[in-house]
Amino acid sequence: MKKTTGFDRDKTRNWRPATQAVRGGTWRSEHGETSEALFLTSGYTYDSAEEVAARFAGEAVGMTYSRLQNPTVAMLEERIALMEGAEACRTQASGMAAMTTALLCQLSQGDHIVAAKAAFGSCRWLVDTLFPRFGIETSVVDGRDNDAWEKAIRPNTRVFFFETPANPTLDIVDLEHVCALARAHGITSVVDNAFATSALQRPMDFGADVVAYSATKLMDGQGRVLAGAVCGTEKFINDVLLPFQRNTGPNLSPFNAWVVLKGLETLDMRARRQSENALEVGKFVESRVPRILHPGLASHPQHNLAMRQMDASGPIFAFILEDRAQAMAFLDALELVDISNNIGDSRSLCCHPASTTHYGVSAEARADMGVEEGMLRINIGLEDPRDLIADLDQALTRVGL
Ligand SMILES: Cc1ncc(COP(=O)(O)O)c(C=O)c1O
Repeated sequence: MKKTTGFDRDKTRNWRPATQAVRGGTWRSEHGETSEALFLTSGYTYDSAEEVAARFAGEAVGMTYSRLQNPTVAMLEERIALMEGAEACRTQASGMAAMTTALLCQLSQGDHIVAAKAAFGSCRWLVDTLFPRFGIETSVVDGRDNDAWEKAIRPNTRVFFFETPANPTLDIVDLEHVCALARAHGITSVVDNAFATSALQRPMDFGADVVAYSATKLMDGQGRVLAGAVCGTEKFINDVLLPFQRNTGPNLSPFNAWVVLKGLETLDMRARRQSENALEVGKFVESRVPRILHPGLASHPQHNLAMRQMDASGPIFAFILEDRAQAMAFLDALELVDISNNIGDSRSLCCHPASTTHYGVSAEARADMGVEEGMLRINIGLEDPRDLIADLDQALTRVGL
């Protein structure tokens, strides 16, 4: 394999993220293929017994087993790292595999993690249910409150974990403040950047140590595969994450890596256009519903902070109708927008978080994080916003709004 572009870091590391998204990390075989090759292989063969021994000993360059290395997966990892401005990246089979790996690889019994209370349901489950089972202490704080992060620090605090914007409340965490606070106390900040991706927000530019992804969302962007990624320093990825990942095996399949590689080529364009569409649709929704949570609108209490951290506000927002019955009736009235709990897709999708993405979170935790019974979360896609507005208009009218 020839490393034609992307791996000569001195030449290519200064390319901007949109260029990295198309070219970063590309390897080419002797055939000189334009599009990245898909190496659907679990293992490798060797010219001699001596060679395989040398590879396992780290004395010869080369791959040994696809749980440890795969060329297609390596291209994706290099590309994501370059887009993120990170030293290194490793990918996982899903966003939750990425979050679990990013956190468990560095936490042990007796450690303490502080997490923002507004989070994707399964991320909250890790903090509320899984970690305590292994003797890891947990605290949840209002991620919007800078003082709350500081007050929650204990001598054994190892990790701060949060999403910004958060799913589904669109809470914004002050990246610069919270990441600096973490650093000052020797705590690792782990940021779930799924709602924005590096196309719209680069948490490491604000001091984040580790950035983790559900690449299922905007990175694939066309609702095809599950994927996850974790970015960090070479030291974190090689010394802390890799021993955990290589031995527990939450790896991404080469096929799914290839699909995400193709998705990344259009990420910048999609993320920006979907943000523009979401702003236009959001302005319409705001004129018709009691309450909307959209970081791109001046009515969002953290609008200014969001716009300081993000290049654009992203494709996702939430709005609150009177109660569950009205929210459900609205979903049933949609004709163009699909009822679906995925996000980041080029199709517009809408869901009722309390009965879907946050069904597994206790009713108290849902209420505490602001997942109300009348809340709907919408992902705005690449359709013409005028058609989306027409659909939302008729659905709102049908539920009496
Ligand atoms: C913010 C956030 N993090 C993590 C995940 C989990 O990702 P996956 O479904 O790829 O496991 C999701 C999924 O919706 C999410 O929205």
